[in-house]
Amino acid sequence: MVPKISTLSGYLHEYQKSIANPTGFWENIAESFYWRKKWTDVLQWDFHKAEIKWYLGGKLNITENIFERHLFLRGEQPAIIWEPSNPEEASRTFTYEELFSHVKRFANVLRSHAVKKGDRVAIYLPMIPELTIAMLACARIGAIHSVVFAGFSANALSERINDAGAKILITADEGIRGDKIINLKETADEALESCPTIKSNIIVKRTGSPIDWNNRIDYWYHEEMEKVNDEAIAQEMDSEDPLFILYTSGSTGKPKGVMHTTGGYMVYSAYTFRNVFQYSSGDIFFCAADIGWITGHSYIVYGPLLEGATTVMFEGTPTYPTPSRYWEIIEKHQVNEFYTSPTAIRSLIALGQKWADNFELKSLRVIGSVGEPINEEAWHWYHDHVGKNRCPIVDTWWQTETGGIMISPIAGVIPTKPSFATLPLPGIQPIILNNENEKLCGKSVEGNLCIKFPWPGMARTLWNDHERFIQAYFSQFPGHYYTGDGVRRDEDGYYRILGRMDDVINVAGHRLGTAEIENALNEHPLVSESAVVGYPHKIKGQGIFAFVVCNDLPAKDAGEELKNSLLKGVAKRISPIAKPDVIIFTRSLPRTRSGKIMRRILRKMVEGNTDFGDVSTLTNPDIIQEIQTKVLENLEK
Ligand code: WTA
Repeated sequence: MVPKISTLSGYLHEYQKSIANPTGFWENIAESFYWRKKWTDVLQWDFHKAEIKWYLGGKLNITENIFERHLFLRGEQPAIIWEPSNPEEASRTFTYEELFSHVKRFANVLRSHAVKKGDRVAIYLPMIPELTIAMLACARIGAIHSVVFAGFSANALSERINDAGAKILITADEGIRGDKIINLKETADEALESCPTIKSNIIVKRTGSPIDWNNRIDYWYHEEMEKVNDEAIAQEMDSEDPLFILYTSGSTGKPKGVMHTTGGYMVYSAYTFRNVFQYSSGDIFFCAADIGWITGHSYIVYGPLLEGATTVMFEGTPTYPTPSRYWEIIEKHQVNEFYTSPTAIRSLIALGQKWADNFELKSLRVIGSVGEPINEEAWHWYHDHVGKNRCPIVDTWWQTETGGIMISPIAGVIPTKPSFATLPLPGIQPIILNNENEKLCGKSVEGNLCIKFPWPGMARTLWNDHERFIQAYFSQFPGHYYTGDGVRRDEDGYYRILGRMDDVINVAGHRLGTAEIENALNEHPLVSESAVVGYPHKIKGQGIFAFVVCNDLPAKDAGEELKNSLLKGVAKRISPIAKPDVIIFTRSLPRTRSGKIMRRILRKMVEGNTDFGDVSTLTNPDIIQEIQTKVLENLEK
């Protein structure tokens, strides 16, 4: 097991050590794992070329570190407790031994479909145990998994499958979330019409509803599992062999295939899991995220299972059948550490506090927050009504690209402060730069959050597009990794994340690029152009505000019908999560003389700000007043 910090002085000591001698620090942590062959060199890096390698020459398989390493002690211990969406359905438990057997079987299924080391496997599954089994089976044989969130549309799925060149798709007949049924197979079929690389589609039976069947490529998961045995030797992997790709939104329209490798990600996800949550042997850990996002990868699957924990996997939503669902699960399974998003907390606050107050939640020791800034009101409510004034909150800042938590309290060790992610974890070296690329030293400063030294869990590239990797993260502030977030360091040296500085918005904890939403809107034949910005939203943190200009159609004629058709278009192109909350039609958008849309002005307007700064470079300053009137009408609603 990785070493655990348990006191503030211990943290300060480890932090100093990790800065003074980073390679020695990370070498020591990596010693906790099982390596078939030890590394020869701990780190090679060049932030100008964006080349980062950890544990060079090391050979391992991450599943041997989850299973073989733990079986002797934990074979009988639950690895996964799966809780269905509907509480009337039984939960399912998989011990380490049982999970291992499923993983090896499915590894053999993949091998029988000619999947080899380095091949990509797309996984489009709801929150069912087979999702974890499929990921680990890929890792067992060295295939690279690319999990696509089950809320994404056919278009979004095929785009991701084609970018990765996936050979196999794994999906389900349907998914269940609260009172909703999600037609996954139908959506997958539509996606596969334009995915020539897919040779087999393996389908998990979740609901048993009738589905269309394509004899050429469709296979039932349960039938394939019957055909194989459960002996599957792990593929030997190099530390730097890819483990997975996970697509995320950037500031241009095309999603980015963030690629993580085996050795570094293993060390980092396990280390941060144990330390941030102060996980102890025997604890039950419940992360309520979806595995379709990085939080689920690192803190439902890899981090907890690498540390031999019992991880709760929940299929449903916090409000179905009642807003007590999370609290019931915590009591039913005696959860010790609970991890969710500010949006989930705010939506529960809006439904009234009796739901949480009805439960004592005595088993809880640590509660966590992730994905977006947590406002003070939500922080206090979470602390008082869920943590019962007893459990420390870990407000964890990190990103798909960072692989694991970067800035966060260590539970019970680092004193918390509402809405502050507090201090960097050992090994993490943040630096705040102003727009002129100057370092802002000392306390009480605000600027762009960058990281100046590599850590093992960081992404290594964007799939098939290293140039974009350099451009997106290492070019604005040469020699540093740029996070895209703004940050303030206060008088105590604590970090408060201010939110994205680029064209990425964070809607209900879902990361979306405004450009991808604009592209979807612009596909409508009546739309000539659009601009999308985020605006403060009480529950979702940020809402989506769209300004749309139509062809041959005076803005006053554009009405509800067109709005609905635009919303449908966005849901189809991306996902229902990307649908704008507000759409307003306008004659034109504010533009500079060089033709650029002035999003800065639109952003200020939707924040209710009336000081737009210098507008002298606009070609059409008269449009501002007109748009602003409409914005105010809509914000009041
Ligand atoms: C935001 C999610 C404030 C941030 C793990 C980041 C946060 C983006 C926090 C990454 C936090 C994440 N406080 N903001 N505790 N955690 N963010 O890739 O803007 O889906 O850049 O990874 O979420 O989102 P992603």
